[in-house]
Amino acid sequence: MKTDQIGKERNRVDGKAKVTGEAKYAAEFDAEKLAYGVVVSSGIAKGKIKRIDTSKALALDGVLQVFTHENRPGYMWLDKNYKDDDAPPGSPFRPLYDSEVQFSMQPIALVVAETFELARYAAMLVEVEYEEAEHDTDFESNLEQAYEPKEYKATEPPKPRGDVDQALAEASARIEETYTHPAEHHNPMEMHASTAVWEGDGKLTVYDKIQGVQNSQQYIASAFGMSKDEVRVISPFVGGAFGSGLRPQYQLFLAVLAARELQRSVRVVMTRQQMFSFGHRPKTLQRFKLGADTGGKLQALQQEVYGETSKFEDYSEDVVLWPGVLYPCDNTKLTHKLVALDVYTPLDMRAPGGTTGIYALECAIDELAYKAGIDPLEFRKKNYSEKDQNEDKPFSSKELRECYRQGADKFGWAKRRMEPRSMKEGHQLIGWGFAQGAWEANQAEASAKAVLSKEGKLTVSSATADIGTGTYTVMTQIAAEALGLPLEDVTFKLGDSDLPKAPLEGGSKTVATVGSAVKKACEQVQEKLLKLAQQQPDSPLAEAKLEEVDFSEGKISLKRDASKSVQLQDLLEQSDNGSLEGEVSTKPSDESKEYARYAHSAVFAEVKVDEDLGTVKVTRLVTAVAGGRIVNPKTARSQILGGMVWGMGVALHEHTVMDNNLGRFINHDLDKYHVPVNADVQEMEVIFVEEKDEVVNPLGVKGLGEIGVVGVAPAIANAIFHATGKRVRELPITMDKLL
Ligand code: MOS
Repeated sequence: MKTDQIGKERNRVDGKAKVTGEAKYAAEFDAEKLAYGVVVSSGIAKGKIKRIDTSKALALDGVLQVFTHENRPGYMWLDKNYKDDDAPPGSPFRPLYDSEVQFSMQPIALVVAETFELARYAAMLVEVEYEEAEHDTDFESNLEQAYEPKEYKATEPPKPRGDVDQALAEASARIEETYTHPAEHHNPMEMHASTAVWEGDGKLTVYDKIQGVQNSQQYIASAFGMSKDEVRVISPFVGGAFGSGLRPQYQLFLAVLAARELQRSVRVVMTRQQMFSFGHRPKTLQRFKLGADTGGKLQALQQEVYGETSKFEDYSEDVVLWPGVLYPCDNTKLTHKLVALDVYTPLDMRAPGGTTGIYALECAIDELAYKAGIDPLEFRKKNYSEKDQNEDKPFSSKELRECYRQGADKFGWAKRRMEPRSMKEGHQLIGWGFAQGAWEANQAEASAKAVLSKEGKLTVSSATADIGTGTYTVMTQIAAEALGLPLEDVTFKLGDSDLPKAPLEGGSKTVATVGSAVKKACEQVQEKLLKLAQQQPDSPLAEAKLEEVDFSEGKISLKRDASKSVQLQDLLEQSDNGSLEGEVSTKPSDESKEYARYAHSAVFAEVKVDEDLGTVKVTRLVTAVAGGRIVNPKTARSQILGGMVWGMGVALHEHTVMDNNLGRFINHDLDKYHVPVNADVQEMEVIFVEEKDEVVNPLGVKGLGEIGVVGVAPAIANAIFHATGKRVRELPITMDKLL
């Protein structure tokens, strides 16, 4: 297929705006007479606010108001059952609803003042007296009370198959181990922020940090009983999100409340510490039992998962989906129970459920391969899944074997010695580890609009988001390709609730979802252009059908005879209203639903562990990805690299520590919450293997936002075992656990 854009390396179309500071984020939009709100956070984890005294704050000149549950307007929260698009089953938290405190650092007041500094100072003068109740934040001691939720937020755990106990008894190699993953918090560069601009007449324009502007718009409309015409939400740039921006957060609610009540524009920005108060990747504990026969074939697989949730919502994620996708096995039992604690509801974080589930699965499989005396990569080849057993469906495409081959070649896996501690280099123990991964390749319903102006400029729009992943760029490429225009003649607009409807930007589905709508909207413009071309006297395209022509280099030409062509410019000049439009909605095809749709990865890791100090360096990482068609190899590579660095953080750094005495996460800043830094990142390679998929969606893409992270932590954990002979089954793998 001829292509001018799709599959080509392109720089980010928004790159210049980002590096020059021209790109504006939610807290950077200005408004006349802007006031500043600072949030007061609860000092206890559970109980009631007995007394809240705001008089000292209010007495300061320039403090405009202090909002609490006591003076909040009655029109708030009339719709108690409202749920945002990412809400798990339960009752979403309602800021300032009443005197009840449900989690540590719950927002209990908003101080609004003429300046940020004054608001921050006044917030310290708010006096609160609590009636403390006993909180329970201890995950381990509540495992006995774990329950299966009435409704799962994510996929229902697959039904059991065969007889696990018998298969385990008969297995020639077996393992039974427990793996834990700590709570982790989102730490994007940009803190959560909302600037609510008062437009008069009760109308608001709100700049919000969010992965779905229409979700925020709906949230505000519901929480304040407003109509959608009264509130417009805008979010052109997002400084990192990957799940933290899926649900509207309390700073949005509070900014809107203050703006409405004061009839003034108000900005509220969370502090870095407050970023630890609205949802996290939940702590999980997973018990695995695996058994294989003498040939190294998996015969039994049991995965028993416990995940943390709040007492007001049942958060769950796809932790037990992966065995059925990755390993054929006749005897399986998969359970997922929840442990409800006095914490805020956990929140999706990059590959929610996959990052935790695949970590434990891939470590357990590595352990079993060692028990069976089989090379870990060889073990995966022996146990290669040809269909998705969860749904008993064939894969729409799966080039994972090619990922094994190209990844192993690049890494040099063939030179690996099986024996742990066998590849020393002085004090450095060298380890090579392997893991595989998968992630869903979904498509949702979305709309897009394309307008081709008389000047030949194309503007395409949809209310999606770009969280730094490259949405602006690839949508521009898809549209430019459709009409054969250079990139600079195409503009893609997103992040505005007035634009055509789009779902939350998450789940690695944006290119498939919004890209399909963009493509189709442009195809409507193609049809209109061809019709115009055929209306020309003696048109060289008179008999041509749409599939027989190419749109390329500003022309429509016949595929079989490129000399028969019409210039787009000539057509545009003749068109009646001066521009041509297409507006469509697209949704996944029925055919695609007959297949299991997944992207796959193979991850190879090399670590060097200092024998005396227990320090770990990840010296090489190779990830081979089968992710369908790659629209832009440059932004795609960046996606996978980012996922690999994040996976390194999962394996070695990230850990929010709950202090059960206080019921509070205690390491709530970037000093004590560790993420990988430049010095941690050494050699990294990304390989995209060719994968054609004609059913997954009209573009043949699979999404790359999450496949890059899932296999990395287990590959590193397995490499650390290979280096040291020690299995650490509790993330993160810090030096104290290795000594
Ligand atoms: Mo992602 S956790 O779906 O933003």
